[in-house]
Formats: sequence, structure tokens, C-alpha cells
Amino acid sequence: MQLHTRVWVVAVALSSPVRITLIYLVVGGLWISLSDRFVALLVADPASITWLQTVKGWGYILLTGLLLFVLVRRDFERIKDAQHSLEQSYDATLKGWARALDLRDRSTEQHTARVADLAIELAREMGLGEPDLTYIHRGALLHDIGKMGIPDGILLKPGPLDAAEWAVMRQHPRYAHELLTPIEYLRPVIDIPYCHHEKWDGSGYPRGLRGEEIPLSARIFAVADVWDALTSSRPYRSAWTPERAIEYLRAQSGQHFDPIVVAAFERWNVRRPTSPEDRSAVADPPLSGG
Ligand SMILES: [Fe+2]
Repeated sequence: MQLHTRVWVVAVALSSPVRITLIYLVVGGLWISLSDRFVALLVADPASITWLQTVKGWGYILLTGLLLFVLVRRDFERIKDAQHSLEQSYDATLKGWARALDLRDRSTEQHTARVADLAIELAREMGLGEPDLTYIHRGALLHDIGKMGIPDGILLKPGPLDAAEWAVMRQHPRYAHELLTPIEYLRPVIDIPYCHHEKWDGSGYPRGLRGEEIPLSARIFAVADVWDALTSSRPYRSAWTPERAIEYLRAQSGQHFDPIVVAAFERWNVRRPTSPEDRSAVADPPLSGG
């Protein structure tokens, strides 16, 4: 291995603070020893030497300042790139979990991805920005992750659940809370998985929270979740028309849903483009979100 290659390998292997300090010391040392010789070659009288030394001092400050700026900025860019790819890995993992749940319960396939996108649209309509939008998207992807703890015999039961089975099913927000709490980067997104079945009038579960006791992200998600459930076809029923689904949201405003979120949904719904699914939907009996 050639000398300059070895030097480069050692420089890359060093930690950033050590590397930047070493580069600074080398450049500083070279500047001092070479610039003094250069000054001695240029002038001989004391007044000119003093003047050139002052210029040299300012030159040193400018050069090392520029050097530090370039080195530190390059390291920040590298850290930002690493953080970005780490976040992409996080999101890919979350989508994988959501997809695994969809594969287990085929009746709600694609529901998770659709409702996550819709929750983001609704949150934007309500004026939320980053990082709340990222937290809402991640929370929506994981909203039913607690169903991983529900036995197949209940989760996949073709007919209606009895009281005992519902009691088990209603544990899924608590399972989500237990699953996600130990994962530090997912703590800001727990509100939706834990609180998406709470209702504005306090009749929801698992804690019976009421009104603004329910985190805003969960109130937004609840509207998006039920809208998607109503306007999507399921094996046991056809999709509702958007008009009928909107009527249902209005009727449940102040009961199941936060009235402010329903109003925001109606504003968003007026502007949204009509999809082919809307035109093929029919007016059938309702079902709530998962
Ligand atoms: Fe759920």
C-alpha cells in the first residue's frame, strides 16, 4: 500500500473530532513554518516584516476558519445522510410490520397503508406540521399492531364475536402499548395504537377517555380509520358511497368523533379528487374501523 493511501486509510479510520483536530494542527504547523520563511524571503526591514506578520496572522485566521467550516460541514452532511438512511430503515421496518398484520387478516388488506395516507392528509388539513406528521404516519401504520396478540380463533373468526371474544379483542390497544413502550424511537407514536378506539363521548376503550383527554393524533386517526372502513369493500359487505359515509361521520360528530376533526375532514373531502372506487360504491350497512 502506498504512503498516501495509508495516510488516507488512517485518516478515515479516526473519529471525526480527532481527524479534524489533526488536520487543523498539520495545516497550522505548515502555515507557521512556511509563511515565516516566505516573509524572510520577501522583505528585510523591521517595519515591513511587522506589517507582513499582521497580514499573515489574518491570513491564518481566514484559512483555518475556512478549513474548519469545510471539515465540520462535511461531517454534518455525513451524519445527516446516515440519519436519513436510518429513518428510512425504521419506516421500512414499520411498513413490514403493518404488512405482516394485513397478511394475517386478509379482510383488511391495504387498509393500513390507505388509512395512514389519509390520516396525514387530515392532519395537514388541521394545520399540523413536522414532526407531528411523521409521528401520525408511523402511528397509523402501527395502529392495530396490538392485534398480533389476539388469537387467530378470534381475529379471523368469520362470524360475529361473543362477549368474551370482544373482551379479548378490546385488549389490542393495551397490547400495542406494552409492545411499543420499550422501543424508544416509537414512544412518540404510541398515542394512535393505544387510543384509536377511544370515543369523544367517553364510551370508547381501553381507558374510556373523553374529549380532549384523547390525544389529537388519535382523534384524527379515528375519523380516517372509520372513513376508510366504510368506503372500502370487505368480504362480508360492499363499500358505502362517500355521501353516505359523510352522513355517518356527521351523525357521530360529538359522539364517536371530535367535531373539529369531522369539520376538517369535510373541508378536505370537498377538495379531494373522486376515485373510481367512489363511483362503484353502494349503500350497504355500516361497520366501524378495525
Ligand atoms: Fe384497532
